[in-house]
Amino acid sequence: MVRQIGVLTGGGDCPGLNAAIRAIVRRGINEHNMRVFGFHNGWQGVLEGQSALMTLDSTRGILHRGGTVLGTSRTDPVKAEGGVDRLREVLEIYEIDGLIVIGGEGTLSASTTLSEEYGIPVVGIPKTIDNDLEGTSFTIGFSTALDIATEAVDRLHSTAESHNRVMLLEVMGRHAGWIAVYAGMAGGADAILIPERPFDINEVVRHLKRRHGTGRTFSIVVVAEGAVPAKGTLELPDHERDEYGRPRLGGLASHLGPIIEERTGFPTRVTILGHVQRGGTPNAFDRVLGTTMGSAAVDMAAKGDWGMMVGMRGTSVRPVPLGKATAERKQVPSSVYDVARTFFG
Ligand code: F6P
Repeated sequence: MVRQIGVLTGGGDCPGLNAAIRAIVRRGINEHNMRVFGFHNGWQGVLEGQSALMTLDSTRGILHRGGTVLGTSRTDPVKAEGGVDRLREVLEIYEIDGLIVIGGEGTLSASTTLSEEYGIPVVGIPKTIDNDLEGTSFTIGFSTALDIATEAVDRLHSTAESHNRVMLLEVMGRHAGWIAVYAGMAGGADAILIPERPFDINEVVRHLKRRHGTGRTFSIVVVAEGAVPAKGTLELPDHERDEYGRPRLGGLASHLGPIIEERTGFPTRVTILGHVQRGGTPNAFDRVLGTTMGSAAVDMAAKGDWGMMVGMRGTSVRPVPLGKATAERKQVPSSVYDVARTFFG
């Protein structure tokens, strides 16, 4: 019988996390008579034993709020020295039967290892604005980020047109270009650069010149932060590393803008959307997705369906083995990119 569970949010925050937390707590209490402990700041809170009992009252008024009321971090308990032993100890102290972990690729990969190699009972919920997790059509946060990016494309359109400029919009997307392709498609971008398709800057320049040669006076180029030049076409400086040793992305468009301006002769401006994409209130889709996935995850935990992640297919959710969801990244398929490309220029 599962009586007490823990919940945590790990990795980058995103809109819709609080909807999932609220659903886990409320359904856990109302349907399964569970006690739900919220761990603070991702796996860090588990290692430090920082948690609080969550109640119906403590989850009131959070559905529409961005970020995560639990806080988050990129701490990895598998890599931390003595992390797994400490984690077991904390679960024992709190008498926790299992954990619901809301995370992206990093957090859920750690969950996979904890489940498969150490037998720790975990259910995963996929969240990341990048939408790059396998086993689910959508991850929590992607839809809101897409709305924000699309609005940015729309806003850049009118100013690009007024000034006859090339506008580069850099959006997030470390390993996959979902935000770039969907926002570019929704906003009518004239070129889209994504990690899945290494780009040739000369081809981008030729393409913009061709477009302006047919009478167009402005262009919008959407650049995913993780886009890479084709081998031997362009040298870019190495990225600095963040506090977790990951390349600190952001700024690719700032390198490309001056090159495009110089080689095309068209005045060019750069906008880097950055963390605006992850902040603020979730849209309706992410609230519903968070609620649906949170409810499904707590039902799975109640049944002891550990080692699984909640995945969304069509309009329903179903369990997917964590190992399968984290084995590979979900990248933008050629078929999707090719539809977007039809409308370039
Ligand atoms: O994990 C999603 C993401 O938003 C990536 O797209 C981005 O590269 C990264 O997080 C930024 O991380 P941080 O907020 O730690 O700088």
